Amino acid sequence: MKTILVTGGAGFIGSNFVRHVLARTAQYRVVNLDLLTYAGNLENLKDVERDERYAFVKADIADARAVERVFAEHAVDLVVNFAAESHVDRSIVDPEVFVRTNVLGTQVLLDRARAAGVERYLQVSTDEVYGSLGPQDKAFTEEHPIRPSSPYSASKAGADHLVHAVAHTFGLPAVITRCSNNYGPYQFPEKLIPLMISNALEGKELPVYGDGKNVRDWLHVDDHCSAILRALEAGKAGAVYNIGGASEMENIEVVRLILRAVNRPESLIRFVKDRPGHDRRYAIDAARIRQELGWEPACRFQDGIAETVRWYLEHRDWWERVKAGEYRKYYEMMYAGR
Ligand code: NAD
Ligand code: TYD
Repeated sequence: MKTILVTGGAGFIGSNFVRHVLARTAQYRVVNLDLLTYAGNLENLKDVERDERYAFVKADIADARAVERVFAEHAVDLVVNFAAESHVDRSIVDPEVFVRTNVLGTQVLLDRARAAGVERYLQVSTDEVYGSLGPQDKAFTEEHPIRPSSPYSASKAGADHLVHAVAHTFGLPAVITRCSNNYGPYQFPEKLIPLMISNALEGKELPVYGDGKNVRDWLHVDDHCSAILRALEAGKAGAVYNIGGASEMENIEVVRLILRAVNRPESLIRFVKDRPGHDRRYAIDAARIRQELGWEPACRFQDGIAETVRWYLEHRDWWERVKAGEYRKYYEMMYAGR
């Protein structure tokens, strides 16, 4: 049995990945290292916490001593780094913690992974490192220049460069995956889709930035998890793989779809002041992972969003608790001036 060290496993994608690995494979043990910031929630993993192939450690990826202890206590074979500050709006208000966790934290993990001689290190990155596209531009390939434009995406790009440098200089068998926007169960309700679903269910306004015509390329979180597992097991050392489902949509279309799904009126939509530096469009060309690794997304956006709306309807207690917690302070601060 091999051990995967999953960092950030108590967050949205990480918790879905932990569940995915335990449910679909028999050959891995998972050690989940997470600092439990505002975005980390052990409730996301209640159903697997007693699984004997699962262990949780509360630690900071930027704390070299703590990370060293985890490597000393567990014979880590593979690392998947999800741990990050992940919200663009927060990075505009307070970029420092993004540099600490996303850049310094990645370097600490790389150092330890190299010292332990792991079989594979996978860095979970984002399409946002490529910057923004115009309406007629071709979708991002892995060859697209790295041109991040928010403090969040700049910190993720910094991490990607460090991964590349350690792979190149020391031969660490590392892979980078760059995925488009995810949606699905357990997403923290400050991101577009869960925020809009939960606000609509609460009868609150839906704050749409600018003209609502910014375009994102949506992928169901389960499809992201299957792509990561595939890249972890079969990806070429040193390679970058884009992950996306070719599901481009304007934000306003997504919001209208959600309102129809929960049977609430469009009068709840409120156009608010735009996000500073707001990237206009992201679109992913995922030909490499499809052709080289045979990965295909299984979920169409229309089906995935219907299923996701049902999940939020059935887990109202989960998001009400999250929204009543630390998130409330942030939400009030963000919207005070809008
Ligand atoms: P999230 O904010 O829901 O979860 C992040 C997790 O990391 C939380 O559990 C948090 O407690 C943990 N964490 C934060 N700082 C830490 C630290 N210093 N040490 C240890 N743990 C720490 O994020 P997410 O949406 O699940 O994203 C996961 C990863 O996927 C990120 O690296 C993000 O950049 C990347 N990504 C996300 C998307 C998306 O649409 N959400 C798309 C592409 C890539
Ligand atoms: P978000 O979920 O924050 O992801 P990202 O910025 O990483 O793509 O936002 C997705 C899109 O939705 C983005 O164009 C910003 C927009 N948005 C709104 O219009 N209103 C909101 O309240 C939020 C959170 C996002």
